Amino acid sequence: MKGLILSGGKGTRLRPLTFTQAKQLVPVANKPVLFYGIEALKEAGIKEIAIIVGDTKDDIQGAVGNGDQWGIRISYIEQDEPLGLAHAVMISEDFLGKEPFVMYLGDNILKNGIKSLVEDFRKKKPNSQILLTEVPNPQIFGVAELKDGKVVRLVEKPKEPMSNLALVGVYMFDFHVFEAVKAIKPSWRNELEITDAIQYLVDQGYEVQPHIVKDWWKDTGKIEDILDANRLILESIENKNEGFVDKYSKINGQVVLEKDVHVERSIIRGPSIIGEGCNIVDSYIGPFSSIQKNCRIINSEIECSIVMEDSEIRDVGSRIDESLIGRGASIARCPPKPSVYRFIVGDKSKIEIK
Ligand code: DAU
Repeated sequence: MKGLILSGGKGTRLRPLTFTQAKQLVPVANKPVLFYGIEALKEAGIKEIAIIVGDTKDDIQGAVGNGDQWGIRISYIEQDEPLGLAHAVMISEDFLGKEPFVMYLGDNILKNGIKSLVEDFRKKKPNSQILLTEVPNPQIFGVAELKDGKVVRLVEKPKEPMSNLALVGVYMFDFHVFEAVKAIKPSWRNELEITDAIQYLVDQGYEVQPHIVKDWWKDTGKIEDILDANRLILESIENKNEGFVDKYSKINGQVVLEKDVHVERSIIRGPSIIGEGCNIVDSYIGPFSSIQKNCRIINSEIECSIVMEDSEIRDVGSRIDESLIGRGASIARCPPKPSVYRFIVGDKSKIEIK
């Protein structure tokens, strides 16, 4: 079996972060979202993967490379415009050939990976296997309707959902999907929808096997979802300390301190992860914090947040909570007089003050 990971698209819902980086490279527990997909495919025994890339091709290729870091083969397929998930399948026909494959959306994370699901697909050999999960807000996903355990209808982002079963961003297909993606027409948002391609398979009498996912799954398309995924991943991290902690500091719970981390007169409460080369001084780092490499947190408090590499937080008077701070950012206190706020804020940024 081969793997196809979709990592094109625009990422408009993650602005401003996606003005300067691919949405699939935003870190969750200090690891790019995309790496969770690559690792899930590898764990399922897939050794040959192609990644669909768009405008952010160079960034993605720079971070992922040729797969050597995972001991698998990774190549790239360029998609000039994000014309839809089914379009991505269509342009991958040469790579996929007649082999069955897993299509994995590069911004999705599944708690327990996909190993057992891929095994099931290999054993039963349906034409397609889709994953579904119950959600409170089905109208923002592809939605499936089942009858007697069989898929009868699929609609992309329906205004009036027929069920609460959302399509999870992991699909398995055999080569009949190429017939489907060539037969369908673009949707109202001018995309070739994979949902419509699967409906075509159902209508033509091909076997589409549904599988209900019970463990958590996250589509990290929005900031709240990234913070949520970060929290869920951190819940299962294990202690590691490769840094320096002075005798006035306290580390509680599951905490990862990477190489060259320096902690002075601070409290760190897990689960949290502090990346290589960070300096934490006179500060409090609370649960569910992921601080990427080379950050400086001085005389400040933060929790339930993600801070990306090379950023500095200094002398901030109140606790920072549920925040996502981009690369190389600086947040600091103004001098006491004059009493002002001073901002240099990029397009589409969001700041909340009390
Ligand atoms: O996450 C699950 C949902 O993913 C499903 O429930 C929906 O049925 C499915 O259409 C999809 O919806 P989204 O609106 O979340 O898809 P999004 O545009 O975010 O694209 C998903 C991934 O695929 C993302 O990593 C970008 C990439 N992509 C997207 C398009 C439209 C491409 O590589 N090429 C594309 O043309």
